[in-house]
This record gives sequence, C-alpha cells and structure tokens, in this order.
Amino acid sequence: MFLLSGTPYLRVKLPPQRRQTRTPMTMPDTTAAQTNQDFIACWNEILTPKWIRFRHLLSGNGQRHSDLVLARFGVKPGDKVLDIGCGFGETCLEIGRLVGPSGGVDGLDCTDAFLEIANRERDEAGLSQVRYLVGDAQVYPLPAAHYDVAFARFGVMFFESAVRALRNTHRALTPDGKVCLIVWRSMADNPAWGEAKRAVLELLPPPAGGATCGPGPFSWADEDTDRRMLAAAGFPNVEMFERVDADVCVGRTIDEAVDYQILVGPSGEVVREAGEEGKRRLPEIRERLGALMRRYLRDDGVYMPSSSWAIVAKKR
Ligand SMILES: C[S@@+](CC[C@H](N)C(=O)[O-])C[C@H]1O[C@@H](n2cnc3c(N)ncnc32)[C@H](O)[C@@H]1O
Repeated sequence: MFLLSGTPYLRVKLPPQRRQTRTPMTMPDTTAAQTNQDFIACWNEILTPKWIRFRHLLSGNGQRHSDLVLARFGVKPGDKVLDIGCGFGETCLEIGRLVGPSGGVDGLDCTDAFLEIANRERDEAGLSQVRYLVGDAQVYPLPAAHYDVAFARFGVMFFESAVRALRNTHRALTPDGKVCLIVWRSMADNPAWGEAKRAVLELLPPPAGGATCGPGPFSWADEDTDRRMLAAAGFPNVEMFERVDADVCVGRTIDEAVDYQILVGPSGEVVREAGEEGKRRLPEIRERLGALMRRYLRDDGVYMPSSSWAIVAKKR
C-alpha cells in the first residue's frame, strides 16, 4: 500500500507544484484532470498487476477495518451511495446488499482492470443496484445532489488532490448527505508497515528527498490536517473521528509476507531507492524481513497490528 516507485500504497514523488494542494471551493475543477494523469497512469500500468496478485491481502486488510465500522456509518435500505476509489468493488457489493434493490451504489474508480473484475463479480452476485463508473474522482461529472452517502475505504489518500475529489463529492451529495471515510493512521501507528521499513533501514540508507505532502498511504494520518482538508472541501461538520485498530494478514506464509512487504509496502521503496545496493543486499533483506515476519506467524498466516481513522462528515 505504498506506491509510486512501484508499490500499491505508493508514496509518490512529484515536483513541488504537483503536490497536494488546498484550493478554494468551486465547481468541479477541470485543471485537476491533467495533473492527476500521472497517478491514474501509475494505477493502471504499474500497480494493477501487484494489486491483482495481492488482492486477497489488500482487500482482506481493508475488510478487517471496514467490518469494524461500516454498520456505524448508518447506510439504510433505499440509500443512494457513491463508493469513491472502489477498487475491485467488494465494498460496493456489501453496501449494495445494505441499500437493497430500492437503493443504488455507484462505484467510481480510475483503474480499468479493477472495474472489469468488479463488473463480472457484480453480475455473478446478481446485484443490479450496483454499477461502476470509470474516471477520476477529482473531476468526474457526478450528478448534483444525488447521493445520500459517499463512502471511501482507503481511497482518498491516493488522490492527487483529495480536497478536489471531496469537493466534487460534496456537490453530488443531497443536502442531508454525508461522507464516510476510512484512512490509514501514521506509519508509526501501523507496525504492519512501519516495522518492516525500520528493519530494512537497518541495512540500507533512507530514500533521499525526505517527507512529502502528496498522495500516499499516510497522507491522512494527521487529524488536524484531515479536518482542515474536509473543511476546505465543504465538510466542516465532522460527526465521527475515531481510531480503529485491527491485526491484518500480511501473508499466508512467511515468503508471501516478505514479497508483500517488498513489492507493496513502504520497505520496498527503501530497497528500490537504494538502487544497486538494494539489489545486491536483497537476500540479506529478505532474511531480515523473514525473521521479523516469523515473530507474527499464526496458524493461518502472518498477522500484524494496523490502525485507521473512521471519519464521518456532514454536507451541512
Ligand atoms: C487503496 S485502493 C482502495 C480500493 C478499495 N476502496 C478497497 O478498500 O479495497 C485505492 C483505489 O483508488 C483508486 N484511485 C486512485 N486515484 C483515483 C482517482 N483519482 N479517481 C478514482 N479512483 C482513484 C485506485 O484505482 C484504487 O482502486
């Protein structure tokens, strides 16, 4: 879950002018369309194979968090729901069952391959109240004042501008509508990722460039920043801001957990950024990560602690 130099929760390095910005509230902003193209290309070209390979872990991790809070988001039969950055659509199906045939769920995502799978699984599940929209959440022409609930599980952290996407969403909500988000807390609060990164940093230098404020798994880690982003998007009225802790499965075996950490987790970024040295020391790194993963091995896989925020904010 750390991406651009090739991992799904990517940490994306862009020049300063491309980093996440806060802009005043307006109608959907078409200038965002161009700047977000790199991120969308990254999802479609770099992340898709990894995401499909590790779907059982990535979606499974997400589900452990959404299972703990979805009922509290208060989705009702008949509701119209937007699922932003819906990925393979698992949450769309789940919410589709909650809203029933009189409601509707629109899953919006920018990655074609995910939505192909999502469409197939929706048909298999026979949930015609669920449909999928391909596009950029920042600028997608959503119907005005249409949705009762906008939901996003681990989605908004990866938008080039979450504020733009939320502002677009704000327009699409009914006056009594609300946005319900699940986002990762900080790397320090997520040993599932942070411990592996720390282990690799004992062998390799830290990536150059320091902190970024752009898209990435931990870009919603700070409560004050989140509240300010929500307010900038038109959601000053935050009803729920709660910590959710869950042990997540990072691999069914030690080998899979090591692959997952290196190919998807932030420790992979350290390896890639180290270039030749990273390649040369890979066997040693795998050994070190294997030893760490063994400490968390249970009967059915490697489970490590993780932590998210569950957030609900009203349109008015
Ligand atoms: C971490 S995944 C979460 C997927 C899903 N919500 C889940 O919990 O399993 C983030 C998703 O956001 C999508 N995404 C990233 N940028 C987007 C954008 N600008 N517009 C729409 N979807 C976007 C990606 O394609 C990906 O499916």
